[in-house]
Amino acid sequence: MRIYDIIEKKRDGLELLDSEIRFFIDGYTKGEIPDYQAAALVMAIYLRGMSDRETTVLTSAMAESGDLLDLSVFGDLTVDKHSTGGVGDKTTLIVTPIVASLGCKVAKMSGRGLGHTGGTIDKLESIKGFRTELSSEEFISQVERVGISVISAGKALAPADKKLYALRDVTATVGSVPLIVSSIMSKKLAGGSKSIVLDVKTGSGAFCKSVENSRLLAEKMVTIGKASGRRVSAVITDMDIPLGTAVGNASEVKEAVAVLKGDDKNKDLIEVCVRLATEMVSNCLGYDLQSAEEQVRESIKNGNAYRKFVEWVSAQGGDVSSIEAENYGRAKYSREVLAPFDAYITKMDTEGIGTAAMLLGAGRKSKEDSIDFDAGVDIFAKTGKFVNKGDRIAVLWASNEELLDGAEEKYLQSLSFGAECPQKRPLIYDVVR
Ligand code: URA
Repeated sequence: MRIYDIIEKKRDGLELLDSEIRFFIDGYTKGEIPDYQAAALVMAIYLRGMSDRETTVLTSAMAESGDLLDLSVFGDLTVDKHSTGGVGDKTTLIVTPIVASLGCKVAKMSGRGLGHTGGTIDKLESIKGFRTELSSEEFISQVERVGISVISAGKALAPADKKLYALRDVTATVGSVPLIVSSIMSKKLAGGSKSIVLDVKTGSGAFCKSVENSRLLAEKMVTIGKASGRRVSAVITDMDIPLGTAVGNASEVKEAVAVLKGDDKNKDLIEVCVRLATEMVSNCLGYDLQSAEEQVRESIKNGNAYRKFVEWVSAQGGDVSSIEAENYGRAKYSREVLAPFDAYITKMDTEGIGTAAMLLGAGRKSKEDSIDFDAGVDIFAKTGKFVNKGDRIAVLWASNEELLDGAEEKYLQSLSFGAECPQKRPLIYDVVR
């Protein structure tokens, strides 16, 4: 078999055989297929799509590229969550300690920033000392002791996704339903949790911009998960506006900690987190949705969720006090972005805002780029707010002053202004079970 022929076949819009998909994943994981051929095939998949059979085989091949964790010692208590990616999406940092404090066992594999979106692993690595690569034994033992462990796809678990994820990030091939489904579900299947809750984003900052496409993505992931014997639900949530007010790795950790400590300023962020946590607790512990939600809210109020966050971060080597440092999430240079008119903000192109954060250093332009954890954007005015000319609508942070001009231009280009207050969109669209 030759990878050249497989690329040609997909380029011409034909269906690949199971053996061809497995040949690609095996060869790429082992380093026998070079990045340039993998990039060509991934672009062909992006343009031509994949059938349900091809997507299912790609998912299994990627899951089986490393170890498949056996978490059966925890019975039905294991639960995992995953977001399809957004801007300002720090929900994992809030939701996982909440559900772990209520008795769920969270065994989770997360991703790095992808395209214009942020990634949980980059955010966690902004905490001094935090280790995101654990062996399978360390991972399971921490789930047992602490009730929560979050790691990156690595040598042991879903190594094919680690390589493909980094490749897609820099080849404009992220927003493809079969590639998103296989990336997310390969990690979830390898991770071994019994319950899985998916946060499928929709809107200008999501990879699927329309609710219809997001629903399709949700249905495909739920089907694959259920076929593997998992309890899966997918909550379709809004990503037409950044979630919360911080976009950037360290600043998002800070915002998540504030929510866990009871700060209720960011209503949108809290509502999405409570919904996801409720779904997780209900799937995993069998409570009805109303009592699950009551317990979720109570765990924030009584401090148990924050105490669990501290226990978790410390268990993975992170220094929680580093989050309290004055310069954490505050790069050396800053720029206030001012409103250019007296008007309502009628729309935020949230992908553009994610790109502005990336231009400041919070994301990667090439596979080898390192992240500036302290770079990012603080948002002061979102869609629906009336602003007067000269009002501060955002602050940009960068360690290199030269990055500020381009990011400011991108940020302003991403906003629309008008005389009419726009209609509010729902935060939660639907739940697919
Ligand atoms: N998250 C992932 O892990 N993979 C994707 O492709 C998108 C979001």
